[in-house]
Amino acid sequence: MPSPTSVPTPVPALAAPAGRVHEGLVLEPRDVRFDWAGLPLHWIPDEPMATHIINVLHLLLPEGERWFVKVFKEALPMIRDEQLREEVLGFIGQEAIHAEAHQEVLDHLLGQGLDPRPYVRQIAWLFQRVLGDKPGLSAARRRENIIERVAFVAAIEHFTAFLGNWALNSPGLDRAKADPTMLDLLRWHGAEEVEHRSVAFDLMVHLDPGYARRIRGMLVSGPLLVHLWVRGARFMLAADPTLDGRLKPTWRETGRIARRGLLPDPVRSLRSGLRYLRPGYHPSQEGSSSQALGYLATSPAARAAADR
Ligand SMILES: [Fe+2]
Ligand SMILES: [Fe+2]
Repeated sequence: MPSPTSVPTPVPALAAPAGRVHEGLVLEPRDVRFDWAGLPLHWIPDEPMATHIINVLHLLLPEGERWFVKVFKEALPMIRDEQLREEVLGFIGQEAIHAEAHQEVLDHLLGQGLDPRPYVRQIAWLFQRVLGDKPGLSAARRRENIIERVAFVAAIEHFTAFLGNWALNSPGLDRAKADPTMLDLLRWHGAEEVEHRSVAFDLMVHLDPGYARRIRGMLVSGPLLVHLWVRGARFMLAADPTLDGRLKPTWRETGRIARRGLLPDPVRSLRSGLRYLRPGYHPSQEGSSSQALGYLATSPAARAAADR
């Protein structure tokens, strides 16, 4: 895992960031490991559509979360608050581990004859080239570019917290006898997303308290995420060697699966995105930190990491 200790030397604290309500958060990167050897291709039994719609997470997150880490490392020298700096370092440590955990699922899928690489190449291009660091900018424009990308991360983190909260409250997956190791991955990751849900938002507000920045972040990230998810689901179903291209995702079918508790409800997901636009919004209003920490205290992977 990339070490968060290789970041620049801290600068002195000057002021508390505006809008912070999350004081004293200590984020612990948990060095979890999962054994995928026994994971069936359709890890929700007889539910290939639901399995692959959730599998889009594995397509997007390794590149996406590595990008979060890069953006936040670039933003570190701009932070003028010691507590926020500690939270950002904890966030970096957690996201770096998340990326590698999902990467291992991708490697396992490849071994099962489902090649995710064509889609992942497109995602890598998006995060590394389109949304990557732009060399040759003046200092002022580089700062502006970093803040803009932090705002994109903050908007995406709204959805990762929403999905994490859903994963922690999804008895439908247990009823459907979803693979327990995959459930632990989703809930461990989901719990850490809920745990650190305020960090990206607080960083954005620290660097630019303006409302326009937040709105722009969501207006770019929200539709982009939906687009990537739809494309990713289509890709996974087409690439599954057992389906021969027979299954195509539709919103109607997605709604039906969501009603059985195997996916987040699309309308609720949309409403959640709209909540982010409220002037008084703060991520601490969403999800429950105590529920997240409660899961992390019982998660097999997190407990094994704590014992190592
Ligand atoms: Fe994450
Ligand atoms: Fe996150």
